[in-house]
Order: sequence, then C-alpha cells, then structure tokens
Amino acid sequence: MSNKVIFTMLSLFSIIVLGACIIGFTLSAKTPKEWWNNSFIYQVYPRSFMDSDGDGTGDLNGITSKLEHFADLNVSAIWISPIYVSPMADFGYDISNFTDIDPVFGTIEDFTNLTTRAKSLGIKVLLDFVPNHSSDEHPWFKQSVQRVKPYDDYYVWLDGKLVNGSYQPPNNWLSVFGGSAWEWSPVRQQYYLHQFTRGQPDLNFTNPLVLMEMEKILIFWIDHGVDGFRMDAVNYLIEDARFLDEPASGANVPADDYDSLDHVYSKDMDQTFVILKTWRKRIDAYSKKDKEQKLILTEAYADMESMKRFYEAGSDVPMNFMFIGQLNANSTTMEFKRAIDSWLGMVPKGHVANWVVGNHDNSRVSNRFGAGRADQLSMLTAVLPGLGIIYYGDEIGMTDREMTWNETVDPAGCNAGPERFMLKSRDPERTPFQWDDSMNAGFSTANETWLPVNDNYKQINLAKQKMEDVSHYKLLKQLVKLKKTPVVATGTTEVILVTENVLGVIRKLPDVKPVVLLVNFKNETVVVDARTWMNIPAELTVFAGSVGSGIPSEVIMDTTEIYLPAEASVILY
Ligand code: NOJ
Ligand code: MG
Ligand code: CA
Repeated sequence: MSNKVIFTMLSLFSIIVLGACIIGFTLSAKTPKEWWNNSFIYQVYPRSFMDSDGDGTGDLNGITSKLEHFADLNVSAIWISPIYVSPMADFGYDISNFTDIDPVFGTIEDFTNLTTRAKSLGIKVLLDFVPNHSSDEHPWFKQSVQRVKPYDDYYVWLDGKLVNGSYQPPNNWLSVFGGSAWEWSPVRQQYYLHQFTRGQPDLNFTNPLVLMEMEKILIFWIDHGVDGFRMDAVNYLIEDARFLDEPASGANVPADDYDSLDHVYSKDMDQTFVILKTWRKRIDAYSKKDKEQKLILTEAYADMESMKRFYEAGSDVPMNFMFIGQLNANSTTMEFKRAIDSWLGMVPKGHVANWVVGNHDNSRVSNRFGAGRADQLSMLTAVLPGLGIIYYGDEIGMTDREMTWNETVDPAGCNAGPERFMLKSRDPERTPFQWDDSMNAGFSTANETWLPVNDNYKQINLAKQKMEDVSHYKLLKQLVKLKKTPVVATGTTEVILVTENVLGVIRKLPDVKPVVLLVNFKNETVVVDARTWMNIPAELTVFAGSVGSGIPSEVIMDTTEIYLPAEASVILY
C-alpha cells in the first residue's frame, strides 16, 4: 500500500473518530426505579452448580447451600434454568410436568426452602418458563396422540404430504437442533411440529385452552414465591398458519442444518407480542398485592425492531445478546460502538437496557473473546446503563471444556453427528462450577459427574480467587458495586472511539467526576490521550483494571497519556 493511501486512510479515520466524538451518543438521564435496574442477575444452570446428594448432578439443595455466594457477589437475583419434571431430552427444557420439581433436583419443599432462604438474604428468585413446547412424555401430548379431547388440539398436528405414494413431512421446516421439524406419529397418523428436539412437541398457541394452561402455570409459581420469569424461546410460539416451505438462506451449511433456511414462517410472528401482552397483564393483575412488580425477561435472538416490540409488549428485559451473537473477537471498536449506540437508542423511554455476558447455549465469554479479553465484557456490562446478566462461572473466568464425541450429551451436538458436533454442542459451557481445588472441583462427591469437570479447576476456582489480591471474582464484586453508584446508575452515556483500537465509555453527572471505561481491543500495548478524545479531567483515579493488566487500583492517572497493556481494560473515576 502506498504512503499516500495509508495517509488518506488515516485522515479519514481521524475524521470519523472526531465526528464520533462530537456527536457521541448521549442517553437521557431518566432512570426507572425498578429493583432490577443497575444490578446484576446471575444465571444458575442447576445441573452444574452444586450437587448436594452426591449423584453427580447439581440440585436445589446444592443451590440453597451456596446462597451466600450470591449474597457475597451482591447480585440482585438468580434465574434458575428449568427444574421441572423432565425426561431430560433437552436437560430440563422438555417438561413433562410444569408444576412439580424433577426428583434429580429435589422437591417442592426444597424449592420453598430455597426461595425462603434466598429472600432472607435479599436475593430474588426467577424461574425459567418454557411455554413453546412440552415433553412428548407430558400427559397432554400422550392424550393428543390418542386424539383424546380437548388435548387433540393442544399441539401442532398436520397431515403428511403425499409424494409418489408415500407420506413426507408437511413442509421443509427444520428443527433448531437439525433435521426435519416434523415427526410422524404412527398412532395418530399425522406429523407433529417440534422446533427443538423431537421430545419437545410445539404447543398450539392458536388454541385458547393452551393459553389458559400456561397462565395457570405462571400463577402456580407466583404462588410459590417467585419474583419473575425468564421466558424461553418466545419468538417460536406462533407459526404462520399457511405452513409454507421456508426459503433457503444461502448459508454454506448442510441441508439439514437449521441455518440453511430463512425462518420467515416459523419464528418472530406478530401474534407473539399479543400473547406476551396477555401474560404481562395476567401476571400484573395476579401479583398486584405484592409490593414489587414481577420481572419478565424474554429470550429471543431477534432484530432490533423486535426488541423494541418486546419492550412494548411487556417484557422488562428483552435479553440483549449482542455480546454473544452480533459481536465477537474479530469485531472492531466501530462495530461495538454502533451496536451499543443502536441498543441504547432503541430502548423505549422509561425502560431499562440490559447486557447478557453469557448463557448455557453459547461458548463462554472467555472463549468467545479469549481469556485475556473476558473482563472487557463484564466491565462494559457494568459501566453501560441498566441490567447485567451473567452466567455461572463468568465470575471466575471459567472456560469451555472441549468434549469428545463420546462425551457429548447435548442433543444439539448429538444431532449434528461425529463430524460437526463440536460446532453445535453446548456441553462445553455447561461443566460443573469450580468451587475449589478438591475432588470434582468441590461440586460433587460422586465418582462421575453428569459432565466432566474442566481440567483447569486447580488454576481456576472460586476459593483461590477469593484468596488472591487480584482476581476475576474480586473484580466482578467491584463491578456490581460500581453499577449502583449515582454516576453509573443515573448519568448520561457516551460511547467513543478513542483510537482505532480503543473503545471508551463515559458516564457523567453534573458537578461530579465522570466514570470512564477504556477497552483495548488490540493484542499490544497502546498509549492513548483519553483526556482530549473523551473530554475528561486531566487526572482520574483507577477504580479497577482487568485481571492481567497489571493496572493497580486507586492510583491517580494522567489521562493525557494512558498506557493500556495488550487486551487490557480500565475503569477510572
Ligand atoms: C432456549 C434454551 O435456552 C435452550 O437451552 C433450549 O434448548 C431451547 N430454548 C428449547 O427450550
Ligand atoms: Mg444431585
Ligand atoms: Ca411454536
């Protein structure tokens, strides 16, 4: 490349940067007072958190025995992935009784004990509500197969298509986990829809009886003391009634891979939002007597316009998966800025923004961005306005454990086959929590745990990080505190391209020092003049640096010349 071209590119970059600085996005300082604003929610994957009875699988009493952990972190709530009766085809997301606890997790009494103890520690408890499907072992489905009324119309049944004298599925729809989304029932002589595993038949949400059943389930758990729900796969509730073939997406994947089609008829249908509104109303009406509003989080990997519609339809937290889906280790600072600004710009007035760091369906943050950059995401989550959602293990920087084909149990992995399971399996991010360096990382006394413990547990575990002066755990505790400080809780927000490789976030309130986050995307040390580019005071104090950055807390920094080691991030105040 000629010098001239490079020079022109550099000038262009300066213009873009300067422009971005001047028109830096500013969010209004209106701040809703809900309990979840400016806090963190912690996702517990119950099979992997703590095993109390030595059977190798985590359980409710295990969670109860570790409630102090959440209190110590000072998170506001835990969301527990499904604990209901289940054949475990999708590890609890296939439910055969929505209003009882699976024996592997314990009993209803154990759950009541958990919520009572959690409440006494000031921790709210949210459950996973899984409306789109039941298990194929649910009595509703068993009766639906037999055409017993009224269950005959509880699921999505269609006749096969007669092709050359034999029956084929009604259309080309695919399951999220690969292969046809239709399964033949020899008894009923029809196909049923399953957007997930064949053990998870889709319920028919055009049937008012199904809607009533779901409302009863919500009420049941409100009666059992829950503070809200994470609603699973809500954008799959409704299908286009014409059941037309879906067009090819053009993605370079095998024909039975879900990503090979554009899901224009089986996902994100308008009626979804109507259903959500009725649940919002029902939950609010029923819990009016409670002093706090029940929280609704919705799980939908969807576009920005849908996110807005989820807010408007009554979701308090349309989960923002940008740090999981849209952005990755190769994303530029500009891509981060654009994505964050567009989210902040979309959140309707009076609603709370949210940032999801990780979950049980995706590689851990340490793997998505690299162990050296994992703290960047929790620091962004803390400094940006609203709610942060972390996944168990994020607080200590747990990493994925590579599984062999033989070790693979996740249906998403198993369905993909021995050549492609590693692209789809969610087992790597679901390994037992690493409490300490004892047997099974302190998770279980069993000879074998349901998924193997990550071999790195002697280096990465909670007990060790509690002892160390600098650790992911200590940093996260600081970040939880920071979120509640007035500047971060109520200040304005600007996201700034400080240099091509350094992203900055400033939170400001009149007459107080700002809170400033700097994130180095690059794998080498950079020196930045944050004072000029961010218009901040010449001196600020280090609140916290990312683990491994070597930046000590509480030192005063000259902001005209900040050294940011490779992949480091730092918060100043
Ligand atoms: C989303 C859940 O997070 C995932 O784990 C599950 O497999 C599907 N929904 C089906 O319930
Ligand atoms: Mg157990
Ligand atoms: Ca559905």
